[in-house]
Amino acid sequence: MALVSGGGSNLAAITERIDGGDISGDVVAVISSNAEAYALTRARARGIPAYVCARKDYESGEARDREILRIVQKHNADYILLAGYLGIISPFLIDAYPYKIVNIHPALLPKFGGKGFFGIHVHEAVIAAGEKESGATVHFVDSGTDTGLIIAQRSLKVEDGDTPQTLQHRILENIEHKLFPDVVRALCNDEIKVENGKVVFAAGSFK
Ligand code: GRF
Repeated sequence: MALVSGGGSNLAAITERIDGGDISGDVVAVISSNAEAYALTRARARGIPAYVCARKDYESGEARDREILRIVQKHNADYILLAGYLGIISPFLIDAYPYKIVNIHPALLPKFGGKGFFGIHVHEAVIAAGEKESGATVHFVDSGTDTGLIIAQRSLKVEDGDTPQTLQHRILENIEHKLFPDVVRALCNDEIKVENGKVVFAAGSFK
């Protein structure tokens, strides 16, 4: 199950790896917080059941998340992948899927995470801070924003002359589109576990 809000290029990277036979699982449904998201078009083109759960259509975030939970259960999803999802996940939904909700964030957490750090704002802040490196992080979702246990991180150099847009593009293409499918593959193969509050990788799996 994937939750999306935007273009869905991470979703596409994952479904390509499924189609290539590299990931032994499937995206059983897609839920978008935004009716206009191109990710919905991608999902429908692939025949994935696609739903819109926009915050404005519900009296509260919790009411929206009760509907999301219903859809997740209906499709018997094992994992909830936040693939460019901009909503906040309610605590009851996090508690219902412990270490089963996974997010990708376009920076090297714990730096440049938390409230306000989404989309292009992340890369603006990285450049404004004069960072030499940035990257992406895949992590389990907990009740904080971008604070959950880190599964994997990859970095790249911030080049002289990088703008937030060029940095965003490079991180998306060179890191996110490989890192997220790699993690999904490992999760589907049961190669990632959490023991005593730490992420543990099976021998021979990626790190
Ligand atoms: C990615 O940069 C992801 O890290 C962030 O939102 C962006 C989504 O891109 N959370 P897409 O919708 O997968 O193309």
